[in-house]
Amino acid sequence: MAFELMELPYAKNALEPYISKRTIDFHYGKHHKKYVDRVNKLIKGTPQESQSLEEIMYSTYKKNDKIYNNAAQIWNHTFYWNCLTPNGRAISNSVKNVIEKHFMSLQKFMALFTEQALELFGTGWTWLVIDKKGEIKIRAIEDAGNPLLEREVPLLTCDVWEHAYYLDYQNDRERYIENFWQIVNWEFVEENFGKTMEYPFRRTQSHEQGRPSPKRKEVRLF
Ligand SMILES: [Fe+2]
Repeated sequence: MAFELMELPYAKNALEPYISKRTIDFHYGKHHKKYVDRVNKLIKGTPQESQSLEEIMYSTYKKNDKIYNNAAQIWNHTFYWNCLTPNGRAISNSVKNVIEKHFMSLQKFMALFTEQALELFGTGWTWLVIDKKGEIKIRAIEDAGNPLLEREVPLLTCDVWEHAYYLDYQNDRERYIENFWQIVNWEFVEENFGKTMEYPFRRTQSHEQGRPSPKRKEVRLF
């Protein structure tokens, strides 16, 4: 069964003026779609053909870069689209409290996350994760990196590949990240605290694809 491109959880123009429909057309409609098409082509006739997306990532990491990179990019983009929303609610007190506990204040966290996103040289992703010790950390990972490979739970990500912002912001990554904060889906971040390190990935078109159900270790807010 082939992987399918997820459906966006909002209209393509819904993130304007922060991310334009034109960027979504290319980023989601061309780049993300191409990763899906490539994986389907690359895994045909291989042991990965019957595997979930996470299984493909684990089984090809550092063994088959071509398959790993494309598979991880499907996962990362699905997660990224879910991290954004046009109807964002204010961050809940429970998430805010955890962030304040680890980073002093929400402003300090946002500044540190932004700094790491700006310092990431070249292409990659900036993540907020729960690490193996249960600590909340910011991690900038190059290219198609993914915290799951380090057995970390992703809570939030920002795509800092140029294709994510160049049409709207050209070389101004800083302004893209400033505006990223305007459309963060804090409810999704909160949901991620209850997720696990083993993400059973369903092969559906739905945006539910990026919302795995709890299976193993539950990480609580408190
Ligand atoms: Fe991207």
